Amino acid sequence: MKKQKEIVMSGIRPTGFLHLGNYFGALQNYVRMQDEYQCFFMVADLHSLTTHPDTKELKENVLRVLAENIACGLNPEKVALYCQSHIYETSELYLYLNMLAYKGELEKTTTFKEKARLQPDNINAGLLTYPVLQTADIILHRASLVPVGKDQEQHLEMARNFVNRFNHRYGEVFPEPKAFNYGSELIKVPSLDGAGKMSKSENQYATLYLADDDEAIRKKVMKAKTDNGPVIPNSPKPEYIENIFLLMRLVCDDSIVQKFDQEYNNCKIRYGDLKKQLAEDMVKFISPIREKVNEILGNNKYLQQVMEQGAEKARKSAKTTMELVRQAIGLKYF
Ligand code: TRP
Repeated sequence: MKKQKEIVMSGIRPTGFLHLGNYFGALQNYVRMQDEYQCFFMVADLHSLTTHPDTKELKENVLRVLAENIACGLNPEKVALYCQSHIYETSELYLYLNMLAYKGELEKTTTFKEKARLQPDNINAGLLTYPVLQTADIILHRASLVPVGKDQEQHLEMARNFVNRFNHRYGEVFPEPKAFNYGSELIKVPSLDGAGKMSKSENQYATLYLADDDEAIRKKVMKAKTDNGPVIPNSPKPEYIENIFLLMRLVCDDSIVQKFDQEYNNCKIRYGDLKKQLAEDMVKFISPIREKVNEILGNNKYLQQVMEQGAEKARKSAKTTMELVRQAIGLKYF
């Protein structure tokens, strides 16, 4: 008999405009996983309601993030790619899980405290129970592997607590979900100003977005921080130079990186040439993705079809789980 593939589930926030960090940190992993596991990837549109988004913007962001994921290589035929709000079973499971989630632990969550600080006038119950909804997303498919970044570790720990409480009270229905990454280290994509990582919200001029046009890419790369170059052979690279080499390793040929590395070590490096090379290779890398995104966004019928197909797959798995859940809780009277 064929071995059942392990189940992978992750949520993508519809905040629009993915950047190079999202690509190498998350998307590349998703694309790799789709061949090895049974994958559910969902646009977390319900979660985004906690911050009361503008209705029109919500739609644009959801469609863009879908298109960007497909353009980067997620195959809607292989995975279930769907919108959270299309699966009503999620809300039902969320309700049951809320009975097992305590006010104290929810209030202690780092992301809740951070959001409460940022939006003191809108500390709604949805914000408080955000990790409960996230748990519902995951265990609705009885998934055990969740590809997420470090910032989601606490939510996953809470998910495991809720799962254990459920299983203890009602019988074993759910596996414990755990964070998943290929390899031990996450690929960090440094920003172009030599400080920190590329980011959706901070310093747009030092972040390369998949939607940037060729000129914007060139401009941002050429502005990256450098200096007059080393004067002592084989000296260590300052962090902002190391970061530029890191970016080169992501998109340039090995031989090119080696060439510049040697020049650096011989104190012959010309940062203008290096940045020109990096800019052109970035353009080569990003422009086909950008064009694909625009092509997909121009085809509403296709996007609708992807969403429906994804929802159908997700619903099927959700229905099976919810039968087990209602039975376990005792909500079946005949
Ligand atoms: N909270 C996640 C984030 O901020 C998004 C998310 C929602 C998610 N539901 C999920 C991630 C389920 C993993 C699994 O990025």
